Amino acid sequence: MDLSSLVLCVLFEVLAVNCQEEAQERIVGGYAPVPHSIKYIVSIQTTQRQHLCGGSLINKYWVITAAHCNIGVNKMMIVAGDYSLTIYEGTEQEILPQLLFPHPEYNPTTTNNDIMLVKLRAPVYLNSYVSIALLPRQGASIAVGRLCRVSGWGYTSPNGGQIPSTLRTVMLPIVSTQQCNSSGSFGGSITENMLCAGFSTGGKDACQGDSGGPLVCEGRVYGLVSWGRGCADAQFPGVYTAVSKFRRWIDNTIFSYYSRCKND
Ligand code: ARG
Repeated sequence: MDLSSLVLCVLFEVLAVNCQEEAQERIVGGYAPVPHSIKYIVSIQTTQRQHLCGGSLINKYWVITAAHCNIGVNKMMIVAGDYSLTIYEGTEQEILPQLLFPHPEYNPTTTNNDIMLVKLRAPVYLNSYVSIALLPRQGASIAVGRLCRVSGWGYTSPNGGQIPSTLRTVMLPIVSTQQCNSSGSFGGSITENMLCAGFSTGGKDACQGDSGGPLVCEGRVYGLVSWGRGCADAQFPGVYTAVSKFRRWIDNTIFSYYSRCKND
């Protein structure tokens, strides 16, 4: 090999590594998981296939997401088994919703009770790309400092930019509600139905487009991406719907859906 081709090779090597690192800057401060290793996550899209929100499969017929992801049952599509939003991988299952159950006390002003159940028209097939997420028990608490995983197809930079094409994930510690409600942070806007997660140094967070997606701690979906102030700001952790506060509502909603069907 002559000197010029050696130089070219080295240059390409360096460029390739740099390009890879560039491509890893997603969710915010996160990385790409092994494809299809997070099998319970779904992409909630418009019927025109535009990604809007994340969600989690809790059984073959039901998805859990945020109430603020409610764009109306006829405009929504659920995609399970996805990894890259732009490449057809053959693992995707597109299912239309049949009914939406936003929490009856969801408050769009305060974002309190930001949770919604989606009943699917047809069941998803559970396979090596698609599986179910576990939920915490009613009232279960998760310790401050516990590291939890948040995943999604949301913005990879605090100032927006682009929806990444592949799934991203990052680990974040739970922040106490007291800390999150302090005057230097959210100053009292965090209700008992919310959880905060993030590093005191910032840099890692969920962001726009991750909404409704899962924050998984100890193997269960303890949080749903709900809101924040910017993304990855040291002063402002991400705010999540505290799923354990809604376990009874989730079970009752699903149960009453099926008991209602029996009678008509
Ligand atoms: N509301 C946003 C959405 O609709 C999620 C914001 C989460 N922000 C954060 N900094 N964790 O996608």
